[in-house]
Amino acid sequence: MTMNIGILTISDRGARGEYEDRSGPLIAEILHTHTPWPITHQAVIPDDFATIVETLTRWCNEGVNLLLTSGGTGFAPRDVTPEATKRVIERETPGIVEALRAESLQITRHAMLSRAVAGIRGQTLIINLPGSPKAARENLEVLLPVLPHALELLTDAPGTESSHRLV
Ligand code: MTE
Repeated sequence: MTMNIGILTISDRGARGEYEDRSGPLIAEILHTHTPWPITHQAVIPDDFATIVETLTRWCNEGVNLLLTSGGTGFAPRDVTPEATKRVIERETPGIVEALRAESLQITRHAMLSRAVAGIRGQTLIINLPGSPKAARENLEVLLPVLPHALELLTDAPGTESSHRLV
C-alpha cells in the first residue's frame, strides 16, 4: 500500500518569500532517499492558526498518510503550530514527541523549548518538527526507523511496508 507524504513548512517569512524554505526541501530529500513513499503534498504557509488548521484538515481529507510540519513550535507569539495541530488531531501520540525531545536533548538543551505535538486524524499521522534544517534532520533521524510500522498500524495494512529498512 502506498503511503502519501505531505510536508508543510509553517513560517511567516517563508510564506512572504523573504526567506528561502530550506527545511521543507531537506525533509523531502531525506524521505525521498530513505522511504519508498511519494511526496504528494508540499507547501509553505504563514504562522496563522486558521490557515494551518484548514491546510492540515484538507490534506488529511486528500489522503495524506504522513503529514510532517516544520516550524512554529517554539515560544514566539506567532508560534501556533502545536495549537492548530491539536485542533485537527483526534488521538494524540505522545510517545513520538517524547522520543524526539529525549533524543534531541542529547544534542542541545534547547530541545526542551520545543512544544511539538503529534497525533492521528483518521488515517493520517501528523508530526510537528522544528523549523531549522539542522533540527528537522535530527528529528527525522529518530523517526525514520519507526515510521513503516507506525503507518502500517495506522492504515491497517500489516506487512505491506515492513520489509523497507529506512536507515
Ligand atoms: N531539536 C533538535 N534536535 N535540534 C535543535 O537544534 N532546536 C530547538 C528545538 N528542538 C533544536 C531542536 C529550538 S532552539 C527551538 S526554539 C524549538 O525546537 C522550536 O523550534 P521552531 O520554533 O523552529 O519550531
